[in-house]
Amino acid sequence: MKLLIVGSGGREHALAWKIKQSEYVKELYAAPGNGGILDVAECVNIPADDIRQLATFVEKKGIDLTIVGPEIPLSLGIVDYFNKRRLNIFGPSQAAARIESSKVFAKRFMRSYDIPTASFVTFDRVEDALEFVHSRDERLVVKADGLAAGKGTIIANNEDEAETAIKRMMIERFWGDAGKKIVIEKYLEGVEASVLAFTDGENVLPLLPVQDYKRAYDNNKGPNTGGMGSVSPHPVVDKNLLQEITDTILLPTISGLRREGNPFKGILYAGLIVQPDRSVKVIEFNCRFGDPETQAFIPLMKSDLIEVILYTIEERLDEAEVLWYDKKAVTVMLASGGYPKKYKKGFEITGLKEAADMESVHIFHSGTLRRNGAYITNGGRVLGVTAVGDNYNEAFNRSYRAVDMINFERMTYRTDIGLEFIKGGV
Ligand code: AMP
Ligand code: GLY
Repeated sequence: MKLLIVGSGGREHALAWKIKQSEYVKELYAAPGNGGILDVAECVNIPADDIRQLATFVEKKGIDLTIVGPEIPLSLGIVDYFNKRRLNIFGPSQAAARIESSKVFAKRFMRSYDIPTASFVTFDRVEDALEFVHSRDERLVVKADGLAAGKGTIIANNEDEAETAIKRMMIERFWGDAGKKIVIEKYLEGVEASVLAFTDGENVLPLLPVQDYKRAYDNNKGPNTGGMGSVSPHPVVDKNLLQEITDTILLPTISGLRREGNPFKGILYAGLIVQPDRSVKVIEFNCRFGDPETQAFIPLMKSDLIEVILYTIEERLDEAEVLWYDKKAVTVMLASGGYPKKYKKGFEITGLKEAADMESVHIFHSGTLRRNGAYITNGGRVLGVTAVGDNYNEAFNRSYRAVDMINFERMTYRTDIGLEFIKGGV
């Protein structure tokens, strides 16, 4: 088969690395790809959201299957458009992708189908939102309705912070039209977990649960980012809890979407909070593979990824299974100093080869380009360093040993990815 991966991040590099090993795949392309993806795929310079140009490329090259990484093309309807042109593609339709692209839709959907989530109110008038927060004396979470690259959620510790968040979204339009409507919800205490699953519209097949580290700095301080690291499998989400999540969250979501005439095919990603009493609530849904989650679980996957994707597309997911190595993975993201706010790019990266040559270490590129044989920083999140080990301790130590070998100007990273899961300290 000839395959195209759409996207340019660490998630797409991890997918490309895995897909390259599939016995089904003869040729692999990425659009637009990045400096690291170049090592495993032919990169073509088409932006991930240029749906028409992507379809034309696929027709011209005779590509058999397209796999979409980011949410933007999915929310723009790449799957519907490809299907119209009779091109094979893996991902949800535009209507099903609303589970991620509109938080108002997602929250109302959850309420209709009794899917556990934080209690909430939605607003499309700024005065109403302000009046609501003035009547409350508790920590609240303010969320822009639309896509905001993972940054449209603000945790407001008091009335003033809630007011600032509402004004930033609805008046200053910090995230453009994404802030036309907002959701305000109850703040939930607990441990976060990402549970991703293949779904063919009817069946679900969960992947290994992952812990994502969203905050910029150690000890979960600082602003939210796209994700600064991840650990898989998630130590808190054991087999029993995963089954409960499948029964009470994943399956009802898939059957609800099907009942509404928008069956969801692809990867359903549930961002969850496991509360102190172990009850689980949905924080958000995404309609795609997560990043950096994918960088952590992909090296643990024994099965052929393409085979599972084909079962999903053919709506035969009940016949598929995914096998995993009995190991742990820790992914540390190396970012440009300043991220998630302003940062500089264009710095040369050193030590990559030495780090990548380490046993059980995988370096996935998030924001790099290649110039005259050198790797250059080209984004906020630059590299993901994943190490696999027999236990969290081994994976943690290995990952940070590899991190120590890599350098670029203003490189920054968290030093505590997976630390809380290491018994007896490092
Ligand atoms: P979201 O944009 O909905 O994924 O939220 C981004 C991050 O904000 C989540 O990963 C959580 O860390 C935090 N968050 C969102 N909603 C809540 C909530 N209701 N209670 C506590 N934390 C939340
Ligand atoms: N790691 C969070 C996301 O992929 O949205």
